[in-house]
Amino acid sequence: MIIAMDGPAASGKGTLGRKLAEKFDLAYLDTGALYRAVGLSLKRAGHGPEDADRAAHAAKTLDSDLLNDPELRSEQVGHMASIIAANPVVRANLLAFQRDFAHQPPSGKAGAVLDGRDIGTVVCPDAHVKLYVSASDPVRARRRLHELQAKGVATDYETVLADLLERDRRDSQRATAPLKPAQDAVLLDTTELDIESAFERACQIVDQWQ
Ligand code: C5P
Repeated sequence: MIIAMDGPAASGKGTLGRKLAEKFDLAYLDTGALYRAVGLSLKRAGHGPEDADRAAHAAKTLDSDLLNDPELRSEQVGHMASIIAANPVVRANLLAFQRDFAHQPPSGKAGAVLDGRDIGTVVCPDAHVKLYVSASDPVRARRRLHELQAKGVATDYETVLADLLERDRRDSQRATAPLKPAQDAVLLDTTELDIESAFERACQIVDQWQ
């Protein structure tokens, strides 16, 4: 079974994806981490995210150690990732890894949950369950603000909201694999739902497929 989870930043898809993977005993891949790792490798080498050739090369020779680096989760690296993610060669270079993970999941698991922006539309158009997770802009900004504050990052609501909206705009307006729901995706709006209620709803959607 392949479960595709797409949606904008801070919609809750990562938390839901991990919980679904645990419940249904599936492998889990956060595909945003791949784009972030490309960003981090460019940053460490002193290059900007607009350097298309270097980004394409970093995506082809991805250093898997970077996937566990604490700096991967920083707002600066997320910002770089969203610029890099508009590069079609980068996307093409990361595609085979994601598809292999979905179709031959590690540790002998019977399937996989992948979360990202284009899983249901491009990476796994054949996924058995497609969820498009969303939430209102203020709710997403508040969630992200709390996450950052818990990590000790000094920021404020207005800055976080502006960053999220800029990232959404870039992700949904790029020419290659833009953020959008697949035609056959089930929409899950988590604006009014706490994590347990959202998870219950996601489980019902997966159960309907089984
Ligand atoms: O999900 P996360 O915020 O970690 O993703 C970082 C960036 O990577 C996103 O803003 C998006 O530009 C890009 N991304 C993508 N396609 C995916 C996953 C992430 O373009 N499947």
